[in-house]
Amino acid sequence: MKSVRIRQDIAAMQGYSFISGTLDALSERLGIPRDQLIKLDTNENLYGPSPKACAALAALEGDYHIYPDIRSTALRQLLAEYTGVSAEHILVGCGADELIDLTLRLFLEPNDAIIDCPPTFSMYSLVAQWIGNCRVIEVPRHDDFSLDVPAIEDAAFASGAKLLFLCNPNNPDGGVIAPETLRRLLQLPLTIVVDEAYVEFMDGEGFASWVPHTPNLILLRTLSKWAGLAGLRVGYGIFPLDIIEHLWKIKHPFNVNVAADVAARATLQDMDYVRSIIQKLIAERQRMYQLLQTIEYLTVLPSQANYLLCEVHGMTTTELKRQLDQRGILIRNYSKPSLEKYIRISIGKPEHTDALIAALREIAP
Ligand SMILES: Cc1ncc(COP(=O)(O)O)c(C=O)c1O
Repeated sequence: MKSVRIRQDIAAMQGYSFISGTLDALSERLGIPRDQLIKLDTNENLYGPSPKACAALAALEGDYHIYPDIRSTALRQLLAEYTGVSAEHILVGCGADELIDLTLRLFLEPNDAIIDCPPTFSMYSLVAQWIGNCRVIEVPRHDDFSLDVPAIEDAAFASGAKLLFLCNPNNPDGGVIAPETLRRLLQLPLTIVVDEAYVEFMDGEGFASWVPHTPNLILLRTLSKWAGLAGLRVGYGIFPLDIIEHLWKIKHPFNVNVAADVAARATLQDMDYVRSIIQKLIAERQRMYQLLQTIEYLTVLPSQANYLLCEVHGMTTTELKRQLDQRGILIRNYSKPSLEKYIRISIGKPEHTDALIAALREIAP
C-alpha cells in the first residue's frame, strides 16, 4: 500500500537546474586550487562584503541563542533611508527569493494565473509551480530580449492573470524597462512585480519611489549582488500598504537571521565604500564589453547589470563552458532552447576579465 502521498505534480517536476557546486567541490573536480578559481557564473560580487560588514560579523558575540527581531526594525529603517521609501512599505526576507515566494503565496488561489516573460530569471515560474494549482502564462520576449508589450496586454486580458513578473535589469541580458512601458503596463488589471535585484548597476534609480502611490506595483531587491552578501541571504521588497499588511501574516517569523541582519545593517552604514565598489564593477563592465567585442566568435549584448550575455557562434556553449572550466573560469550556460546559444558572464575584478579574455583568445572554434 502506498502510504507516502506527496503531490504528483511535484513528483513529476524538475527542480532548480543550475548548481555550480561549492568552490571546494569545483576545486576537487577541476583539479585547480580553490583560490585560483574565477567564479563568474552567479553574479556574485567578487570584492566581497564591505569591511564594516565583516567587522560587525566578527564582533557579533553572544546573540546567537536569541531569536532575531521578527520585524527587522533597525534594518528596515536603514533600508528606508537607502531607498527613500518609508519603512512601513518594506519587508525583509531570506534573499529576494523568499519575497518571490511570499508574494506568490499571497496572491495565488487554485487555477489563478501569473504572466512570465522568458527568457528571464527562472524563479518566478518555478516557485509558482511549487505552489501548484496555478497557470504560468508565458509571453516570450522579442529576439533582442525586449518585452512584447501588446502580447502581455492580450495575455493579461485573456488569462485574467493576477501577477506579472518583470525583471529590471533583466537576468540574463541586462536590458532595462523604460518608465513609459511600466506606466502603460500598470494600467492592466493585475499587480506588477518588478525584480530590481541588479538596480544598483543601472543608469538611473529604478522604480522604488513609485510604490507608495501605485497600488499595483511591488519591487523586489537584494543585498546578494551589489552588497556582496549572497551567502548570508538578505533581500527586501517594497510594497503598497494594502499588500504588505497581509504579507506580515504569512511571513515566517524569524526569516532574517542575526548574522544577516548585522551584516546588512553594517553595509548600509558603509555606503561610501560600497558605492565605490559598484562604480568599479560598472567601469569593469564597460571594459569587459569592449574586450569581448574583439572575440570574433562572440556577440556581446549591452547590459546595465553586473553581467554580460554573449551569443556564441561556431561551437556549442557546453563545449565553450567545458574549456573555460578546465582553465578554472566558471561561466553560466543554459539548457533552455531560447538560450542555448548564449553564455552569461558576471563582472569581476580587472584581473578576472584579463584571464577570461586570454582564455577566450586561446579557445577558438
Ligand atoms: C533577477 C534575480 N532576482 C532575484 C535573485 C535572487 O536573489 P537572492 O540572492 O536575494 O535570493 C537573483 C539571483 O540570482 C536574480 O538574478
